[in-house]
Amino acid sequence: MCGIVGYTGPRDAGPVLLDGLRRLEYRGYDSAGIALVTEDGDLFVEKRAGKVAVLTDALGGGPPTAGVGLGHTRWATHGRPSDLNAHPHSDCSGRITVVHNGIVENFRELRDELVAGGHTLRSETDTEVVAHLVEDAYEGDLAAAVRAALGRLQGAYALVVMHRDEPDRLVGARLNAPLIVGVGDGESFLASDAAAIVAYTKRVIFLADGDVADIRPGSAVVTDRSGAVLDRPIDEIQWSAEAAEKGGYAHFMLKEIHEQPAALTAAMTGRLRGDAVCLEELDPIAKRLAGIDRVEMIACGTAYYASLVGAALFQEWLGVPARSTVASEFRYSPPPIDARTLVIAVTQSGETADTIAAARLAGDRGAIVVALTNTVGSAITRESHASVFLQAGPEVAVAATKTFVTQVATVVMLAADVARRLGRLPAEKDRELVEALRRLPSQAARTIEKAASIEEVAGRYASAAGYMYIGRSFGYPAALEGALKIKEISYLHAEGYAAGELKHGPISLLDPEVPLVAVATRSAVYEKLISNLMEGKARDARVLAVATEGDTQIERLATDVFWVPDTLEPLSTILAVIPLQLFAYYVAVKRGRDVDQPRNLAKSVTVE
Ligand code: AGP
Repeated sequence: MCGIVGYTGPRDAGPVLLDGLRRLEYRGYDSAGIALVTEDGDLFVEKRAGKVAVLTDALGGGPPTAGVGLGHTRWATHGRPSDLNAHPHSDCSGRITVVHNGIVENFRELRDELVAGGHTLRSETDTEVVAHLVEDAYEGDLAAAVRAALGRLQGAYALVVMHRDEPDRLVGARLNAPLIVGVGDGESFLASDAAAIVAYTKRVIFLADGDVADIRPGSAVVTDRSGAVLDRPIDEIQWSAEAAEKGGYAHFMLKEIHEQPAALTAAMTGRLRGDAVCLEELDPIAKRLAGIDRVEMIACGTAYYASLVGAALFQEWLGVPARSTVASEFRYSPPPIDARTLVIAVTQSGETADTIAAARLAGDRGAIVVALTNTVGSAITRESHASVFLQAGPEVAVAATKTFVTQVATVVMLAADVARRLGRLPAEKDRELVEALRRLPSQAARTIEKAASIEEVAGRYASAAGYMYIGRSFGYPAALEGALKIKEISYLHAEGYAAGELKHGPISLLDPEVPLVAVATRSAVYEKLISNLMEGKARDARVLAVATEGDTQIERLATDVFWVPDTLEPLSTILAVIPLQLFAYYVAVKRGRDVDQPRNLAKSVTVE
């Protein structure tokens, strides 16, 4: 939520910042702005409501030449999207500028205090108080002033601060919002994530909560808030700048759908050993896992749907109670948690505030916390005793696709490995699972090859008034995810429902304008699902089914069918969702939507 980037070094800072903002735009696109200290020592600020392209247009021939600067792309929280509320924000003197991701929860009280002290605050944002607090604390050392100001803030922040009179220096700080330092050759960066800077350096420091980074062209010093120097390791980013480019596809979402076979292969790399699933990330907690008597999964959105597959398998294979709860609700009715509870936090970004808060609560109560994330160095990894990475590569489109299928594959592997370690997964079942997992990437590729026919079907359904998605058992998470994709990118109403619940209310929504999308792949609940499908058909709804190749019955019942290869039931969620992703994509394209940056959304949700 909000992307921030800062640069100091020999390059021309303006183009570096604009390039970084374009790559961070998936984090928010309500407004964009940059601030630079120019070669003449002046502070230059340009900021506009709207996307980075609006800012670039406003800059006309480009920003003035500068060696240092900061930039921001916003997902609005406090204050509507406008030029005035766009970041960066400045102090009264106009010498200090700040960009911020997060929420300063006590900003009203700070604002009143600053106004009473003679400051003039111009915007409606919470962020602006930071510039004025730094102004009050400034005595010639920007890092010291930032550290002093931080002591006044409550809430969450990733901040970058610049002072016109210290023109080679930026100071960054983080608390419950992501910020990394990029360590270049004679140049330094600060950014919300590596995508913004990986074209310039792959060497990064993942800042921890409470860290303050003081960067200059040839140095990066990390301290705590008292100023004590900390020894933070430099990590190497494992993917290239090209991985975060569209690579010839019309949209990132389409590219990421096509990357799914490769992402599945990557997610399994090193984890299928002979006939068994082995996640060595669990080795350090193996002793504690031996005593677990319940499993709680926590996640939001798409990650929550993936976690439903995991909860079902933990319960089936381990024989202990297992469930998944939306992270934002978990805290209001926390289950009994103790040292025998395994809590699994599923989050692509690793920065989702609700998921982090729930994981922290679980950790505080003594649970074993395992993070399942795509983001090395992310906040969730610090709340966890073990981290299992999706290895899916960067996902740029706001609508998750390849991270959903790799989340499902990884929770399946996680459940299998824990069950094997506890002696509850028969070797035969493990072998069968490994074989099915190995077939998945080519089966996913075969499904994606049918994109053209899915596009054609989408053309016939794109003008629907809404959609009803149903599924049972492992088809249910696929139905939920398929409906979410439609909602997110085409702005059409879509319900994802447990098929058996259809008759308990939502069936009244069905008519010729509201198609029924049924996940009807081969399973133990197939016949019951077919009954639900028939209930829809009897209400004149067009029926679009996702079915297993070779199913001769479904062709007679459904109006249109998306075919997927056969696989084990727990893995069917992965193959069933692929045509639904493509369907949602083509419906959105046909309706002229902004597929990669749908309205009101941001990819990484760092506010609660
Ligand atoms: C998925 O398309 C959405 N962008 C959203 O539901 C997302 O999955 C959710 O915000 C959780 O994000 P996370 O996996 O990064 O925690």
